Amino acid sequence: MASFPSPRHDDRLREALEGRVCCVTGGAGFIGAHLVERLLELGAIVRVIDDLSTATLDALNPLLERQPERLRFVRGSILDDDALGDAFSRASLVFHCAALSSIPRSVEHPERSWAVNTTGTLRVLLAARDAAVRRVVYSASSSAYGNTPGLPKAETHTPAPVSPYGASKLAAEHLCVAFSETYGLSTVSLRYFNVFGPRQRPDTPYAGVIPSFASRVLGGEAPRIFGDGEQSRDFTFVDNAVLANLLAATSDRPLAGEVYNTATGSRVTVNELAERVIAKLGPGPAAQPIEIERIEPRPGEVRHSHADISRITNDLGYEPIATFDQGLDVTLDWYRAWHERTAKTSNGGVR
Ligand SMILES: NC(=O)c1ccc[n+]([C@@H]2O[C@H](COP(=O)([O-])OP(=O)(O)OC[C@H]3O[C@@H](n4cnc5c(N)ncnc54)[C@H](O)[C@@H]3O)[C@@H](O)[C@H]2O)c1
Repeated sequence: MASFPSPRHDDRLREALEGRVCCVTGGAGFIGAHLVERLLELGAIVRVIDDLSTATLDALNPLLERQPERLRFVRGSILDDDALGDAFSRASLVFHCAALSSIPRSVEHPERSWAVNTTGTLRVLLAARDAAVRRVVYSASSSAYGNTPGLPKAETHTPAPVSPYGASKLAAEHLCVAFSETYGLSTVSLRYFNVFGPRQRPDTPYAGVIPSFASRVLGGEAPRIFGDGEQSRDFTFVDNAVLANLLAATSDRPLAGEVYNTATGSRVTVNELAERVIAKLGPGPAAQPIEIERIEPRPGEVRHSHADISRITNDLGYEPIATFDQGLDVTLDWYRAWHERTAKTSNGGVR
């Protein structure tokens, strides 16, 4: 269940999506699985294609058990045309979330990142064209902006990515435009700004900043900050990103490669974030205070990230349904429960 309802849009979304075949690439991943859950709530018939390279089936298994007639999982890569053909047959909407989604991972494995994020998107667009899909909604990234001067970032700013990841995600946006122009396939790119929420993985070396801070503080360790911590981010609760996908997919506008910032429209420094996580999940004022650990900044990271969301608001009727504070509260509660579950399991208890 979505944590925050979107009553202003629900009736129209249900009408537009009930009984429609939707395919979510990367639907076992963090954002993809939240989107799958919401599509099922709105009555859609959902297919997922995912190779499980960076996710497990933990989020989808309960949905597959509950709704076997409306959810089908295809284990396969977006680089495999047969698997894509199978997943897209009779689909009218494709939500393209599959990617290798981390800047540090792309710094270590730039070729693999390019293959999945860019060539993979090319394959998705070809398969969508061949299956006569009505619209592809692409999960793009604010990393496309890089360190271009000027805040907040508007879609009119010239993108200048500074990481292999940002470059691969931007190149895929251009492919979306080219497919709309050349083949008449309707596409739309949503540039997400730091999405966070329940189930985002804390247990990988490439974990995002919120999962990483939460799991360290819950384990009694100091949050680790790269650089001085004054870098800022427009943290976006996952329900907001899901809503943007649904509005983009069902919009009556003849979308042909449009790009939309998808964010909260406010920013928080990493230092402020660390303080909030410690205040909510730390051991309390009576215990030894948790200090912050500072290490060298990472290559490929941008300094500030803050979105102008007026274009998506005007064109698609989007507005954030959860503020940063509301989303953070729900998310940190989830990490606390996750930590307790994991601790019980590793002590021989039951999950
Ligand atoms: N999380 C964010 O803050 C954020 C910000 C900007 C953009 N995005 C984009 O949003 C999308 C979803 O991100 P996420 O945070 O849910 O990441 P995620 O890593 O949780 O999900 C990505 C999914 O893609 C799957 N995948 C990877 N390679 C694949 C392949 N070759 N074939 C099929 N499936 C494959 C993974 O197994 C995983 O389930 C990505 O495209 C990412 O680039 C995310």
